[in-house]
This record gives sequence, C-alpha cells and structure tokens, in this order.
Amino acid sequence: MGRTPSGRILLIISGGIAAYKSLELIRRLRDRDIAVRAVLTRAGAQFVTPLAVASLAGDKVYEELFSLTDEAEMGHIRLSREADLVVVAPATADLMAKMAGGHADDLASTALLATDKPVLLAPAMNPEMWQHPATQRNVERLHRDGVSMVGPAAGDMACGEVGTGRMAEPETILEAILVRLGGSGTLAARRAVVTSGPTHEPIDPVRYIANRSSGRQGHAIAAALAAAGADVTLVTGPVNLATPPGVTTVQVETAREMLEAVQTTLPADIAVCAAAVADWRPEQAASGKLKKTDGTGAPLVSLTTNPDILKTLAAPGPQRPRLVVGFAAETDDLDANARAKLARKGCDWLLANDVSPATGTFGGARNTVTLYRQDGGRETWPELDKTAVADRLVASIAAELGTATP
Ligand code: CTP
Repeated sequence: MGRTPSGRILLIISGGIAAYKSLELIRRLRDRDIAVRAVLTRAGAQFVTPLAVASLAGDKVYEELFSLTDEAEMGHIRLSREADLVVVAPATADLMAKMAGGHADDLASTALLATDKPVLLAPAMNPEMWQHPATQRNVERLHRDGVSMVGPAAGDMACGEVGTGRMAEPETILEAILVRLGGSGTLAARRAVVTSGPTHEPIDPVRYIANRSSGRQGHAIAAALAAAGADVTLVTGPVNLATPPGVTTVQVETAREMLEAVQTTLPADIAVCAAAVADWRPEQAASGKLKKTDGTGAPLVSLTTNPDILKTLAAPGPQRPRLVVGFAAETDDLDANARAKLARKGCDWLLANDVSPATGTFGGARNTVTLYRQDGGRETWPELDKTAVADRLVASIAAELGTATP
C-alpha cells in the first residue's frame, strides 16, 4: 500500500442480507485506493461480522454511539466529517425512515444527521416495503434533502419474492461513488445544459398535446453532472419531481420556450437532450375554452412542426457545445432507428432505449440503454436504474472530455 488514498468514504452498513455485498464493495474501493471507514449498525452486525469488515477496510469498525473507546478515538462528528462522501449500503427502510425524520438514536443515524458531506444510499428491502407509501414518501423527502440513491434493482429477492428491492450491485455502487468523489474536479469548470420532461402544447387554455415523460432520466442526469462538479442548467417541462440540488432549474411549458431557455444558457460544453419534446403543436391555440355545446362537433386541430432542440444545438456553429447527447425512445428496430436518428440529428452521442410497453421504461425507474457514437461505436449497458444510467453517462462524458474519474 502506502499510496495516498484518492478519496475517503464513510460506509454505513445497516441490517439486510445484502450486507454481504458491501464486503465486495469495500474490496473494490480499496483496489481503487479509496479509504473506507465503516460503521456497522446493530442489525448490520447480524449479517456481517465486524472482523470481516475491519479486515477488508484495513481500519477498525465503529459500532456504538456511546462506546467510550469509539468516542475517545473518533467522535461521531469527526467520523461523519472526515470523509468525502457518506455511503449507506445496504440502506434499510428503517434507516431511511430515520433519516427522513431526522432521528439520531444510534451511531449510523447520528453520523448521517451530523454530516456536512454528500450522502449516497443503496436501498435494499423487500419489494412490498419499497413500494409502501411510507417508504416512497421517505424516498421523496430524502431526494428533496439532496440525498442521492443508487438502486434498488429488480429481480429475485433473498426472501423468495420477485420485484424491485435488491441492492444495486457493488460495481454499480462503485460507479456512483466514483462520479461523486470526482465532484470537486471531474467536470469542474464545465458548463452543461440538460433538457427534461415533456412539453405541453396548448390547444386551448385547458387542453394540451404532450408526450409521455416523467422527467426522471433527465433530472437524474442533471443531478449527476452537478455531483461531478459541472455548472448545470436544467430546462424542464412540467414534471412532478423535486428540483435536483445544486442545479439551476428553468421551468418551461412549450417546445418553443424550451428552445429559447436552452439557447440563453449557451455557450456550454455539454448538452444533453433528454426531454420528450412534442414534435407538433396546434397551429393556433384557442384563446377561450373550446366548448362541446357550440354545435360544430369535434374541432379540427391543425398542427405545425415544433423546433427540434437537439438538432438545433448539434448544428455546426460557434455556439455548438463540444459534446451534444440525444436520446431515442424506440419501440421497434432499435438499432436501425437509433443509427438513422444519430445521423439525422447530428449529435455526437445518442442513448437509445427500448420503450416498448413490456419494458416498463415510461414512468418507471429502470432503463436499458445502448450508447451510439458518431464514429460508429456502440455500447449496450446492462439494465440499470435511471440514476445509474445517469452516472454511467457522466463517467463517459468525463472520460470523453479528458477528465476521467479516479
Ligand atoms: N428532441 C428535441 N426537440 C424536438 C424533438 C426531439 O430536442 N422537437 C430530442 C429529444 O430530446 C431526444 C431526441 O431529440 O433527445 C429524440 O427525439 P425523438 O422525438 O425520439 O426523435 P424524432 O426525430 O422525433 O423521431 P421519431 O419521432 O420518428 O422517433
């Protein structure tokens, strides 16, 4: 060893069967020369032993809030501050509830309340527990508090059920950690603009045309770019999501407003167009509500084409961002359609995802993505949640712009 660590993690291991995967995570972090100091909750110690954690971390394990030896050597405040990032893996429903409520009744929850550093959670629990409105409320609350999450993933659970609740794989958690550790430098001094959500194109004051889009992918990308140190402006259509921390957010309704907002952010180094922009808008929005009772039957709404924001950004010119990334949502013939779209739009990269109804991509947390590059390169990523897709994209952007993560 003897090398200088390239980052310091406070890893909190709470009680879940997935705790065994945290041992693998520690090993991978140590392989990268990332220093790991571990806190094991009482429940966590039922699944992995302090000795195993300490041996892999190469440091003692902290367990008790009121342990005289622990407090004498390293108080809980110092423990939570002497890290670049706090990672909770696995994060149980109970620990997340404590965090959302601001409780501090053991070392893990106290360190999480006392920390002034970014926090990354890798939730792991039974699918019913994950879906429960109480947990989802806590997830929402924690997002608003600026906590980021990786996973949970879908699949077979240790409890025999199938659904979403498995802890993300150590490799995926590692990727999320690397992006966040690079926060002070990876994309520092880079300006990025991200579009997200749908646009609403008015027919009359109460009706509109829109595409389906939750905005989750675009918002996750904006958050990941900001976590990597970029100066990010998120231009978003109407969505039901919290504004990501550390991001300048501009809310718009229509495609034309979105284009205008994007153009005012230029020059930028990076542009990611994740919005589901309506391709057409009613030529003339009625100034008053169209009534069924006026006797003329169903109205004929004539449409006109909206500006293509991605294509406009990707067009050659002095304001063109160095890296322009588009998305393609396809239901058939993914490969051919994606390559044709990449050529047509003129962007540098296209992330194509399969949104056929069976995949549950729309409104869901999961995404299977293939990255197409203008030079013909193609990479299919494993099925990842939208946060992990965002992290992987940001890691690829950092590599492309010559500032790879550690
Ligand atoms: N996009 C955009 N402005 C538009 C339409 C699309 O910026 N007016 C961007 C999206 O944000 C996405 C990409 O273009 O990054 C793909 O859009 P999509 O609508 O799927 O492609 P189209 O070219 O419209 O092709 P088609 O509808 O035939 O699939």
